[in-house]
Amino acid sequence: MNAIIYIFILLQLSVNHIQAEQCVLTSNDEVQLTSSIFLQSRRYCSSFNFLPTQTHRIIISGRLVDYTSRCKRTIPDANIEIIHTQPDFRSICHELHHPNSRGHFNLTTLIASSLTEQLFLRVTSPGYETILKEIVIQSSQKQIQDIILDWHLVLMPSMEQVQLQQQQKQRMSSTIDSLMSQMTLDEKIGQLNLVSIGFDITGPIVSENVDEKIRYGLVGGVFNTYTPTAVRRLQELAINNTRLRIPLIFGYDVIHGHKTIFPIPLGMSTTWDMALIEQSARIAAQEASADGLNWVFSPMVDIARDPRWGRIAEGAGEDPWLGSQIAAAMVRGYQGSDLSRSNTVMACVKHFALYGGAEAGRDYNTVDMSRISMYQNFLAPYQGAVEAGAGSVMTSFNEIDSIPASGNRWLLQNLLRDQWSFNGFAVTDYTSINEMVEHGVGNLQDVSSRALNAGVDMDMVGEGFLTTLKTSLQEGKVSEQTINQACRRILEAKFKLGLFDDPYLYCDESRTPTDIFTYENRLAAKDFARRSFVLLKTDRKTLPLARSNLNIALVGPLADDNRNLLGTWAAGGDWRQTVSVRAGIEKLVGNQVQVSYAKGSNILDDSYMLDALNAYGSNIVSDERSPQEMINEAVAIAGKSDVIIAILGETEGMSGEAASRADIGLPESQKNLLKALFDTGKPVVIVLINGRPLTLTWEHDHAAAILEAWFPGTETGNAIAEVLFGYYNPAGKLTTTFPRHVGQIPLYYNHKRTGRPFNSSNFAEKYKSRYLDIPNDPLYPFGHGLSYTSFDFSPIHADKTELHGDSDRLTLRMGVSNVGAYAGEEVIQLYISDPVASSTRAVRELKSFRKLFLRSQQQEEVSFVITTNDLKFYNSNLDYVWEEGDFIIHIGPDSVNTKSVAIKWFK
Ligand code: BGC
Repeated sequence: MNAIIYIFILLQLSVNHIQAEQCVLTSNDEVQLTSSIFLQSRRYCSSFNFLPTQTHRIIISGRLVDYTSRCKRTIPDANIEIIHTQPDFRSICHELHHPNSRGHFNLTTLIASSLTEQLFLRVTSPGYETILKEIVIQSSQKQIQDIILDWHLVLMPSMEQVQLQQQQKQRMSSTIDSLMSQMTLDEKIGQLNLVSIGFDITGPIVSENVDEKIRYGLVGGVFNTYTPTAVRRLQELAINNTRLRIPLIFGYDVIHGHKTIFPIPLGMSTTWDMALIEQSARIAAQEASADGLNWVFSPMVDIARDPRWGRIAEGAGEDPWLGSQIAAAMVRGYQGSDLSRSNTVMACVKHFALYGGAEAGRDYNTVDMSRISMYQNFLAPYQGAVEAGAGSVMTSFNEIDSIPASGNRWLLQNLLRDQWSFNGFAVTDYTSINEMVEHGVGNLQDVSSRALNAGVDMDMVGEGFLTTLKTSLQEGKVSEQTINQACRRILEAKFKLGLFDDPYLYCDESRTPTDIFTYENRLAAKDFARRSFVLLKTDRKTLPLARSNLNIALVGPLADDNRNLLGTWAAGGDWRQTVSVRAGIEKLVGNQVQVSYAKGSNILDDSYMLDALNAYGSNIVSDERSPQEMINEAVAIAGKSDVIIAILGETEGMSGEAASRADIGLPESQKNLLKALFDTGKPVVIVLINGRPLTLTWEHDHAAAILEAWFPGTETGNAIAEVLFGYYNPAGKLTTTFPRHVGQIPLYYNHKRTGRPFNSSNFAEKYKSRYLDIPNDPLYPFGHGLSYTSFDFSPIHADKTELHGDSDRLTLRMGVSNVGAYAGEEVIQLYISDPVASSTRAVRELKSFRKLFLRSQQQEEVSFVITTNDLKFYNSNLDYVWEEGDFIIHIGPDSVNTKSVAIKWFK
């Protein structure tokens, strides 16, 4: 077993050691490294070769953070260069380079022998001081093979950058001061009004007389209008007709891509790949900003534990820690490092807050949960997005502690602004101020003043602000100062977006061909889709399919469909430009493989649901043949095939907003088809296109393999074909639990223990927490996902079993081997249990993960470093603390099949 040195180094220019959690700078560096020494040492690298005999590995990984944000903001684009030399023996030199690290880096170097080594480090990032450091690793530390350097690199904005930021801030306040000193009350209230007009209707009512209102300065922002031409027309109305020429902000539901549509957010989350998720938001921002937009209603970060809720499709699943990583990655992708660039857009975190907790999974329903559960399980993703610098937040439709979110001052002021230091603006969801009347907390004037006083700055569509705030001011229900504050926040957003410098910044027609729906973006969409698929079941022989001499029966209502591939909120997407599964397969292997197709069933025969979906505009056209005729056709081609590929699932409208389902199984029509296919005795591979966890117990028992593809987006068919035929080995992992039965819901991995836990080995024991008719556990747990290859995991090696105090660090290592025949990726997940605490704790909680690519028969070691930060939880006073005692660390390929190690950590 390799020994290990763990060195926790936190760096900043001329500063050596910083406490990660507190982000405090301490002692200065003893060795001052200059750029010229750095460059000189680099020259050795190019002029000498080095052949190691006895080697050790140095693993350098970590995060880059911004000092001024108290180390909470990750630095998106830094270059990391490391020169690894052994000065006593000049020929040993190795150069590592990590361009554009996107906040995280992971470098490994293999280098020889027992001499003292030096690492010369240079980190550069636009707008930050360059870090130049020398780190000496003494030969005495090197009786060992692996040295792990976990670095928290803290960068300080450069003097020029600080000055620039200050100047920008001053320019912003003086521009806005001068503007506001000229604004009438009506004009100020007008800035708080957000109207919907254009290509989409995304709520129950539409805005009226929009052109006229814009001309009169009664509109601050518009959504549902895009394209440079359409945006320019409205912007010109505002600029050319209003007294103060204040530009409009243009928002839209860019949720998983704009024109090039990526997998639904739930699918993106199953990639467990932050760089990829960030890149998807970056591409979306590029397309959206080229299409006239500067504000996107994303990321949607609501934690959901109930798959009946259709909007589970829009979020990142059930885990708050993973959700907060994803939320931050999305914000970074949309906003970049400078919002005033013409290719970045402002993010809007939604739906604040707890919208995913709707009772019984019914959309817009009541939410009722304890404060401790909010803090522990639901709030982290919103906070993650805010800390990543999100410029705006959207309130939710639900109530919190019996007060609707849009009128909840605790939520919008105390939590969001006071505790989390949010300094952007808060917009409501669609007519959610008006809906407070329906919630029963007052008339429109009451609820509008309540919303403003609570901290709402912009009113989406409902015009409660526009029509009542003036009266409320006269009656003393709101103050002028509060109206001014809201107006200022909207104007600040416009300033940050560069709209005061150029109101037409995002109206550049010449970008349409170069930035929107490009070949590169479609390639990215295909890659994201492949990486989002989760192999739920495999018999380990049917998939991947042979690329020749194969006869496939391709069946199912979604096999030759284009309308239902983009999924919910693909607002700017065009289903006509999607690749169907049939087209994708034929294109990839059509010459070598025999593909016969039959639809086999309608997506739905249930007239109640069909009527509801068609009333919402789903345009579901049912085949006129009888169900039996369709099944017969499918069975006929299946009988002649080697394998049946059944493409099944939901229509686009069956998940998403206002799309709750009480039964989350496959529709009856599709199950009848499946039964007939299973009866043929041929292996059946089910590919699912859908937006939520489904109940698949029966399907699991009979299918050879099940591939969960979610709604994969524009490139659906190409991505599915590549995965089925093994051009890409699926590696997605579930971020939501798949129950066996709808009656188990809510079912999630980080549940509490009960006083009477059921142990299935004591089946006959009564008075235990269980169902009589089915097991307690899910069909597929959180974190589950298989591969065409298999991975083996060594026992966990912990460097200590007893730790002391906040500064102690626990290093855990595990060997992972690819023991199968294919190259593949594995997501190694780390969970922590806290068996005894002052308040009850979840059975385990995800705290870290690594995604690793291994060739067949390759072995790697993954390492994790745990700090007391990972042990923290909200106690009953809502303090975020860790308590000393026993902890169990679990590491493995999902939330159930883990290996464990017990440790003690004392204060
Ligand atoms: C949804 C939001 C969306 C808004 C604007 C609402 O119905 O809840 O998620 O951003 O409409 O389209």
